Amino acid sequence: MSTGAKNTVHGPAEIAHYLPPHYLESELRRDVLAGLTAEPKSLPPKWFYDDRGSKLFERIMELPEYYPTRAEREILERYAPDMAAASPAETLIELGSGSSSKTPRLISALQEEGRLQRYVAVDVSDGALLGAGDHLSETFPGLELSPVAADFERQLHVLPRNGHRMVAFLGGTIGNLEPEQRTALLEDIHDLLGPGGGSLLVGTDLIKPEEILVPAYDDSAGVTAEFNKNVLRVLNRELGADFDVDEFDHVAVWLPEKRRIEMRLRARKSMLVTLPGVDLQVLFAAGEELRTEISTKFSRDGIAVELEAAGFRVAGQWTDSQDRYAVTVAEAV
Ligand code: SAH
Ligand code: TRP
Repeated sequence: MSTGAKNTVHGPAEIAHYLPPHYLESELRRDVLAGLTAEPKSLPPKWFYDDRGSKLFERIMELPEYYPTRAEREILERYAPDMAAASPAETLIELGSGSSSKTPRLISALQEEGRLQRYVAVDVSDGALLGAGDHLSETFPGLELSPVAADFERQLHVLPRNGHRMVAFLGGTIGNLEPEQRTALLEDIHDLLGPGGGSLLVGTDLIKPEEILVPAYDDSAGVTAEFNKNVLRVLNRELGADFDVDEFDHVAVWLPEKRRIEMRLRARKSMLVTLPGVDLQVLFAAGEELRTEISTKFSRDGIAVELEAAGFRVAGQWTDSQDRYAVTVAEAV
């Protein structure tokens, strides 16, 4: 955005880059070093979303087995006006906005309330921000669009602090964080908003039978498997690693005591992997698993309790017609 152009921006807006140069590379190195030398081995999920990964995720959202996107869309279609009325924001900030495909419903509803001026999309993926911007600028010509390339776990301080704001966190992405990271993020969002400064709208998948949960993360067409393995391709490209991608199997397991699905990559045979970019060699035993993602499921009360512990007061909670998924709006108090 050019300086001074604070009002309406016509056409696609420029991305504001807050990720310092080489931030992703140095973060990636740090994460890979820590994760691959840990026992059990793990990698954090944000490395899934390079351009290929973002496209594969778009396909996951269309899969018959992957119900969360449809359930969340249904809730927004139906109840966005109630959500907007509960919290008529001037600025909508979306964390991990991806393709922003469910956001238009929320934007329209907030516009109906008459106060919305600006939409701030926050994602680590430039590709996703660019793709979403074109569409939104056509659909909402009068809305100020501010795409922001930033890491929501570390850089919430770059986001707007003025006016009444709504922070949207869709797609169940909050469930991809470990409990401590989740608590920290909720507290950071509360700090950003400040008492009376606005609300958090958060989408969470709900606990349900394993027979429905597991196929959502292990589809018959193998798209999720390809998405999962993509993280190894990212390491091969970015760190010059030599993972033999085809010698890893995609695994999705439901752990009821942790209320989460874990995605893993299981080595088919013993393999020594070299990662020149981090000066590391790691040995995988046959059958050893690398954890690549968690997807936590919630109860309706559980998410409310966590929000309240972080300083929010729940203003409303909505579920889809099959009670598979919940969207909760909570005011910072
Ligand atoms: N909200 C969208 C996309 C969900 S996919 C939807 O519901 O369809 C998760 C998105 O979060 C991806 O676009 C990914 O790039 C982004 N993301 C993951 N970790 C992030 C982080 N730490 N900071 C910013 N964006 C992140
Ligand atoms: N937030 C999504 C979820 O937890 C992310 C996701 C869906 C995902 N399918 C995946 C992440 C497969 C890794 C692998 O539902």
